[in-house]
Amino acid sequence: MILTYNKISVAGSALVFAWLLNTTVALGQTNVPQLGKSTVKEVIAAMTLEEKAMMVIGGGRDAAPSAFTDGSMVGNTSFRIPGAAGVTNAIPRLGIPAMVLADGPAGVRMDVRRKNDDHKYFATAFPAGNTLASTWNPDVVKRIGEAFGNEVKEFGADIILAPGVNIHRNPLGGRNFEYYSEDPVLTGEIAAAIINGIQSNGVGTSIKHFAANNQEANRAGVNAHISERALREIYLKGFEIAIKKSSPWTVMSSYNLLNGTHTSERKDLLTTILRNEWNFKGYVMSDWGGKATNWVEQVKAGNDMIMPGNNKQIQRIISAVKHDSLDVKTLNTSVESVLNIIMRSPSFSAYKFSNNPDLKAHAKVSREAATEGMVLLKNEKESLPIKNKQAKVALFGNISYALIAGGWGSGDVNKAYTISLAKGLNNAGYTLDKELSDPYQQYNSNYRNWNKELLITDELIEKKAAECDVAILTIGRNSGETKDRDLDYDYYLKPTELSLIERTAEAFHRKNKKLVVVLNLCGPIDTKGWREKADAILLAWQPGMEAGDAIADLLSGKVTPSGKLPDTFADNYNDIASSANFPGLPYDNPSDVIHQEDIYVGYRYFDTWKVKPAYEFGYGLSYTTFGFSPLKVSSSVVKDNLKVSLTVTNTGNVAGKEVVQLYLSAPGEIINKPVQELKAFCKTNLLQPGQSQVVTFNLPVNVFASFDNNQNAWVAEAGAHTLKAGSSSRQIKQTVEVTIPKTILTQKVNSVLHPQTPIEVIKPK
Ligand code: BGC
Repeated sequence: MILTYNKISVAGSALVFAWLLNTTVALGQTNVPQLGKSTVKEVIAAMTLEEKAMMVIGGGRDAAPSAFTDGSMVGNTSFRIPGAAGVTNAIPRLGIPAMVLADGPAGVRMDVRRKNDDHKYFATAFPAGNTLASTWNPDVVKRIGEAFGNEVKEFGADIILAPGVNIHRNPLGGRNFEYYSEDPVLTGEIAAAIINGIQSNGVGTSIKHFAANNQEANRAGVNAHISERALREIYLKGFEIAIKKSSPWTVMSSYNLLNGTHTSERKDLLTTILRNEWNFKGYVMSDWGGKATNWVEQVKAGNDMIMPGNNKQIQRIISAVKHDSLDVKTLNTSVESVLNIIMRSPSFSAYKFSNNPDLKAHAKVSREAATEGMVLLKNEKESLPIKNKQAKVALFGNISYALIAGGWGSGDVNKAYTISLAKGLNNAGYTLDKELSDPYQQYNSNYRNWNKELLITDELIEKKAAECDVAILTIGRNSGETKDRDLDYDYYLKPTELSLIERTAEAFHRKNKKLVVVLNLCGPIDTKGWREKADAILLAWQPGMEAGDAIADLLSGKVTPSGKLPDTFADNYNDIASSANFPGLPYDNPSDVIHQEDIYVGYRYFDTWKVKPAYEFGYGLSYTTFGFSPLKVSSSVVKDNLKVSLTVTNTGNVAGKEVVQLYLSAPGEIINKPVQELKAFCKTNLLQPGQSQVVTFNLPVNVFASFDNNQNAWVAEAGAHTLKAGSSSRQIKQTVEVTIPKTILTQKVNSVLHPQTPIEVIKPK
C-alpha cells in the first residue's frame, strides 16, 4: 500500500506527504473506524483536520485523470476515465475511496485514447438538453437517463456533472443547448426524469449551475441582479421541482454572482433555501475553478466541496479552523454530506465496471428521443412526409452532410459517429442526387467547415430542380461554453444561407416542387427573413449521434412529429424582453446584468404584452390532428387538490402523440401576473387514428400561487382562475374556470436573496 502512495499526485505537495506519514502511523493502529462499517460520525471523529479538509476540496487538476500516468490514486482508485472532469480525495485508512466525476449533460465525456491501449473509448452522444425538453415526454427522457446512467457506471464514473437546468433567458445564451427551456415547469419535470433515470443505476448526478448562470459572457464575474420573485418563480423553480422529485446526489453552484455575492458563497441559497426549504440531502460542489476565492466562506455557506481542488485550498481550510474563522462543526457538516454520498457510489462498493456498455441499445433509445424532440414548424400542403421512397432528393447545405450532434465545451461527447442527413436519407431508402452530394461530401472532407456554405451556382440549382423530386436544405448552428452566440452572424442567417434558400425555393417552386428546410440548431434563430420560402421546416435541434436516421424517420413519415417548442421563436430579436439587457454592461465584458424583465421571460412576456412571435412556446405540428374534450374538474372551488382531466382523441389519419399543455390565467390584484403560465403537461401514448386517451392532472393549491416579494410568501389570490388546455401556448382548445374564494398564503418562506438595490422591473399595465 505504501508503495502505491509513492505514485500519487493528489494535491501534489509537502502537505500530502505529511499526511501520508500520519497515515502510515495510523495504518498501524487497530480499530480505526471504516466508512460503511462504523457510523459516519465515528469516521469523522477519527479524522485528522487535514483529512477533513481533503474531503471538502476536490482531488485537484493535477490529479485529473488525463494527467495520470499509470498507478493509482490514493485508495487504489485507478485512473479509470482519462478525460473525466475531476475526482474526490480518498482516505484509505478510513475506508474512504475517491470518486470520479465526469461531464456532461449529453453523455459521458472522456478521452477516446488511453495509454498503452489500442481500444477507442466512445460514449453515446444523446440528444442535447433542449432537444430532450422538446419531447415534453418525461418517460422517454427517463429512458435516456437509464441508458446514460448505465454508461456512467460501466465506464467507471460515480457522478455525472449533469443535468444543466439554467433557464433560457435569451436565445443567444451559449450553453442553452445544454439546458432545457425558457419555462421552469418544463425544465424541472424533464430534469427530474433524467435524474431519476440516471440515478436508477446507482450513480449520481450534479444538477447545475445553481443558480442564474444564464449567459457565458463573463460567466465567472458577472453579477446578476434579480428580484426575489423572479428567482423564486423562474430561476430557482426548475431546480426546486427537479430536486424535490428526484433527489440528485449533488448540486453544482454556479460561477456568477447573484445580487452581489458569488452563489458558492451564499448561505441563503445553499443552506436556507436548498437544504432547509427544499430538504436537499446531498452535497454541493463549486463549478470548476471559478473566481470565487473565499473558500472558507464557501464551506460556511454549505458549498461542501471546492472543485477541482488544490493544495492551497486545503491549507486555507486547515488554517481557518486553527485560527477560529471556521468552526470545525461546520466543516464536519460538509464532510458528513460528502461521506454520505461516497457511501452510495460504485467506487465505494468497488464496482467492477466493464468499459463495455451496450452502445447499440443506447443508440436506439437516443434515436427515439431525438425523433420525439424534433419540432415540425411548418408543413404547407402536406409537403411532409415524403411518401414516395423512389423520390430523388436534391440535398443542399454543408450541414446535411455533417450534422451537429451537440454543442462544444464540457457538454461535448466523444462519439464513434454522427449519422449525417445524407446517410439517414439513404438508410431510409431515398436516392440522393450525386451531382450535389459529391461536391458537398468533398467540400466537407476538405474543410469540415460548417460555418461556410459551399457555393452552388444558379445553373446547378436549376438543373437539380428539373431532375429531382424535392429539395432538402439544412441550416446549422453550434455553440458552447465560454461564449454566447453572435446576433449578426449566428442568430440571423448569413447572406450565403439566405441566398441558397431563396434560389433553391424559386427554382423548385417554378417546377412545382417543394423545398424542405431542416434546422440543426443549438438555439433559436431568426426565421422572419426566409420562412415564407420554405414549404416545410423541421427543427431537428442537436439530436445526438443518431441525428440523420432520426430526421429521416420524420421526413419519411415512419414517425409522426410530436415535439413542441421549449422556447419562443421571436419574430424580431428585439421583441425578446431580455434583449434590452443581455448580456449586461459593459457589453464586451459585462460586470452587471440587470433582469429588468423580471418574471417576464419568454412567452410570459410575449403573451402578456401581446407580441406575436414567429413560433410560440409549446408549438409543434403533427401529421395527424387531435381533439380535446371539455375539461372536467373535481370541484369548481379550489381547496387543496384539484383534479383536472380531459380526453384526447386522434382525429386524423395516422398514428401520433399529442402534448396536452395546461396553462393557468390567475387574477393579478395583489401582484401583477403573466397572462398565462404553464402549470402541467402530459404527452399521450401513441394514439392510432380514432383512438382516445384520458389525461389527468392533479393540481395542489400551491400551483395557483405566485411569489409575493412583500410578504415573502407564495400567495394564491382569491378570484376566478382559468385553466386552459392547449396544444401550444396559443392554441388553447378548452378552458374551465375555477374559483379561490379567499386569498390563501400557501407557503411562507425565508426572506433572503435580496437585490443590492431595488431593480426597476417592467410591469404590465
Ligand atoms: C463547466 C461545468 C463543468 C465543469 C467541469 C465548467 O467549466 O461550467 O458545467 O461540469 O467545467 O468540466
